[in-house]
Amino acid sequence: MRVLGIETSCDDTGVAIFDEKLGLIAHELYSQTSTHAPFGGIVPELASRDHINKLLPLIKQMLAKTKIELGSIDGIAYTAGPGLVGALLVGASLAKGLGYALGIPTIGVHHMEGHLLAALLEDPPPPFPFLSLLVSGGHTLLVEVLGIGQYTILGESLDDAAGEAFDKTAKLLGLGYPGGAALAKLAENGQPHRFHFPRPLTDRPGLDFSFSGLKTFAMNTLANHPLPEDHADIAYAFEEAVVETLFIKCKRALKQTQQQRLVVAGGVGANKRLRARLKHLEKDLDCQVYYPRLEFCTDNGAMIAFAGYQRLKKRPHIRTSESMSILVRPRWPMDTLSN
Ligand code: KG4
Ligand code: ZN
Repeated sequence: MRVLGIETSCDDTGVAIFDEKLGLIAHELYSQTSTHAPFGGIVPELASRDHINKLLPLIKQMLAKTKIELGSIDGIAYTAGPGLVGALLVGASLAKGLGYALGIPTIGVHHMEGHLLAALLEDPPPPFPFLSLLVSGGHTLLVEVLGIGQYTILGESLDDAAGEAFDKTAKLLGLGYPGGAALAKLAENGQPHRFHFPRPLTDRPGLDFSFSGLKTFAMNTLANHPLPEDHADIAYAFEEAVVETLFIKCKRALKQTQQQRLVVAGGVGANKRLRARLKHLEKDLDCQVYYPRLEFCTDNGAMIAFAGYQRLKKRPHIRTSESMSILVRPRWPMDTLSN
C-alpha cells in the first residue's frame, strides 16, 4: 500500500508518500512563517489562501522530484482536525477530489495522532507500548500508547500549551512569532539561577499541566527588569521552568504506568534543553527516550501519510464511494480516537 499524506491544519503545508514496503519515499514542506510573522500570530484567512496556492504545486513538485506516478497511490490521508477550519478544508477538499478522480480511498487523520506516531518513522522505531509526551503549539499531552488507536490520556494542559507559552513569552521579549526557537536561542546566553520561575502543578499529585502562569510571571519579571541585558536571563529562567515541569511530569507518568519508553513529539520536542534534561530519565529510570528527526518534530506531511497508512491498513474495506462529504473537525478531542 502506498499513501499520500496531506497536512494543512495550521501554517505549514506538508505532503509526503509512505510506502508499505519502502517506508517514507517522499516528503515536502512549505512553511508560511513569513506570511504571518508581520502580524505577530497566525491569520487564519491568510493561512487558508496560502494552502490553496501552495498545496497542489507542492504535490506536483514532490511527484516530479521522485518520479512517482499518481496512479501508484493507493490511498490519501489528510489532516481532518484539530486545527483552523479553513486551512483544514483546503487539505480535505483536495484529498477528496483527488481520491475521487483516482478511485482510491481517502481518510481523515487526527493531527495529534500524526505527531504521536511520527517517531515510528525512525530507525529503530520505538516498539509499543510507550508513554508519549506531545508538546506542540496547540497541545500538551501525556498519553499512554498501547498500540495504534489505543491511547489513554493521562494528563493535559489546563490552559496554554507549552509551545503557546514559549510563543507568548517570546513575544513579550520582542522575539517575533513563532518565538519558541528564538527564545531557546536567547536563553543560551542567559545566566543560570538569576531568576527562579515556578514549576506549575508539580507540588500536587496528577499529570496535568498549566503554563499560562509562567507567561504572566515572565511579564512581571520583565516589568521589574526592563533592560535588554536582562532578557536572556529571563528567557533562561522561563525555559528552565517549562523543561523542569515537563521532566517532573514525565518521570511521574513513567513511574505510574511502569512504561520503559518515552516518545517525545511536537514542536517543543525540538528544544535542546528539554532533550538534555529528559536524557537523565534514561539513567534515573532505566528507560529509553525517542524522538522523531528534528524536521518531523514540527508539523509535516510524513506523519499524516504514516498515520493514514496505519488507519487504512485497519480498514481495508473503505472505498471512495463510502462518503464524498468533506468533513473536518476544528476541535477533536483525542480521547475519542481509541478503538
Ligand atoms: O508541532 P508544531 O509545529 O505545531 C503545532 O501543532 O502546534 O509546534 C510548534 C510550536 C511553536 O509553539 C514553537 O514555538 C515551538 O513549537 N517550538 C519550540 C522550539 N521549536 C519550535 N519551542 C521551544 N524550543 C524550540 N526549539
Ligand atoms: Zn502540530
